[in-house]
Amino acid sequence: MAELKVNINGNEFKNPVIVSSGVFGYGREYEEFVDLSKLGGVATKGTTLYRRDGNPGKRIVEVPSGLLFSVGLQNPGIDYYIENELPNLLSKGTNVLSNIAGSDIDEYVAIVEKLEETDAPIIELNISCPNTSGAPLGTSCAGTEKITSIIRKMTKKTLIVKLSPNVGDIAEIALAAEAAGADAVSLINSIHAMKIELGSRRPFFHNNVGAYSGEAIFPIALRMVWETASKVKIPVLGIGGVTNGEEALQMMVAGATCVEMGCAIFRDPYAPLKIIEQMNEWLDNNGVKDINEIIGSVKPW
Ligand SMILES: Cc1cc2nc3c(=O)[nH]c(=O)nc-3n(C[C@H](O)[C@H](O)[C@H](O)COP(=O)(O)O)c2cc1C
Repeated sequence: MAELKVNINGNEFKNPVIVSSGVFGYGREYEEFVDLSKLGGVATKGTTLYRRDGNPGKRIVEVPSGLLFSVGLQNPGIDYYIENELPNLLSKGTNVLSNIAGSDIDEYVAIVEKLEETDAPIIELNISCPNTSGAPLGTSCAGTEKITSIIRKMTKKTLIVKLSPNVGDIAEIALAAEAAGADAVSLINSIHAMKIELGSRRPFFHNNVGAYSGEAIFPIALRMVWETASKVKIPVLGIGGVTNGEEALQMMVAGATCVEMGCAIFRDPYAPLKIIEQMNEWLDNNGVKDINEIIGSVKPW
């Protein structure tokens, strides 16, 4: 059995597999099936300052090789999370990444002020949500640097900034997050996408556009992880379309220290556990004793 432990900013992960934000809620629905202590970590549903009921209309649809969705950050709000969900998750023997989202800087600040009163060890800052003037903070280097540096000054908790793929050069955005004090970056969030119902000529989602995730985005995510990991010095968490152990290992060879799994869990709630086994098997079959040896080991032409 290879050593699977990895470390991000002093947080030990017993293996690199984390369930990604938004596909696992706060773990309640899954803990009947999955022993959460076997996971490297759980990233919680993106939580905002106040409860949000999410978007009207249809929210999710299966499309070739993935999912289109437009949930609109339905969540019970940070106070509910802190009171009712965080203590349960912290007792499960896994790393908890508190994923937070806001419409503007003030909302992020108010959330982090509340998290500062808790033992939550890791914040995953989702900067992909549109701010009040329309564009997500995370789609520009200036916006990324601004929000990251403000939150960095507020907290000593591990700060992971989750990046949007809907940008020209994701590595530049990652460098801005690093310069502003992020301890790590996670990428990618989902890709803007659309579906139209031909009969009515109406977009499927009331927001007109939605987000695309799932196995189709794996090659795009892998490319972005590689481009980013070869530029930043801080750890990278690879996300996007991972469905099996070999893909998770490709993410790590590209430079990821951890791998987050999203949509694959909808098809098979045991997928994260299977992937951990598959990674182990590949490492054993290929004589790799410690998974850290493969991080960033890609040999570009
Ligand atoms: C239904 C759904 C809800 C999501 N909600 C969030 C969220 O609240 N915060 C966040 O940072 N990412 C959210 N994501 C994005 C995922 O965490 C992940 O970055 C993305 O789906 C790509 O990974 P995958 O292809 O493995 O699903 C959501 C994804 C899905 C499918």
